[in-house]
Amino acid sequence: MTDRGEYAPRDWSVHPPYLHAPYKSTVARSPNKPLVPLPGTLSEITGPVYGHEALAPNDDDLTKNAVRNGEPLGERIIVTGRVTDENGQGIPGTLVEIWQANAAGRYPHAADQHDAPLDPNFLGAGRCVTDGDGRYRFTTIRPGEYPWGNEFNGWRPAHIHFSLFGPSFLTRLVTQMYFPGDPLLAFDPIVHAIPDEKARQGLVAEFSRETSEAEWALGYIWDIVLRGRGATPAVG
Ligand SMILES: [Fe+2]
Repeated sequence: MTDRGEYAPRDWSVHPPYLHAPYKSTVARSPNKPLVPLPGTLSEITGPVYGHEALAPNDDDLTKNAVRNGEPLGERIIVTGRVTDENGQGIPGTLVEIWQANAAGRYPHAADQHDAPLDPNFLGAGRCVTDGDGRYRFTTIRPGEYPWGNEFNGWRPAHIHFSLFGPSFLTRLVTQMYFPGDPLLAFDPIVHAIPDEKARQGLVAEFSRETSEAEWALGYIWDIVLRGRGATPAVG
């Protein structure tokens, strides 16, 4: 936050522009008139950001929260990291929600017609709230890559969608996390809509042996910065 109690403006050298023609859906959805800046108000900083329903047990464990008749298929992973503000301070109480494809690269949604199997024991959605140090942690299944209609033979790199509600609506972030070494990252027009190479790299999690659990799951660390210099770019 600035000295005047305002959040730093969005840094467009980090975030993708509304229009990035190689990412075809941005052509129709981006504004075609100049934006009208709205002055900030106190309620945007102090107003409530999300409901207060209690988290259910296993909301943060996608390998358990949709089980019907067995364990979900795929490779178990742990994804954890810190949510910080632009000054590196952890942000406690941030609602972190994730959604993702199953191990075969399929979402359980009517719009997803990819010819890959659904998993009756995996919904691909979870949430948690960051602890006093701004830390979040999920147990899930490594998502599969999937084809999409953006271009001929286009495939999305494996990814997990994240939504974060920081202390105000001005610190909401919707973005995506990727996996190290994914060859599809080099071709992905969503990733390449982000103008800055360092910011693109910041969307790739780091493999962590320390976070991995022996005989159980591989671990990945991904830290997220809300607003300001070094902000994690929005990806949608
Ligand atoms: Fe996706």
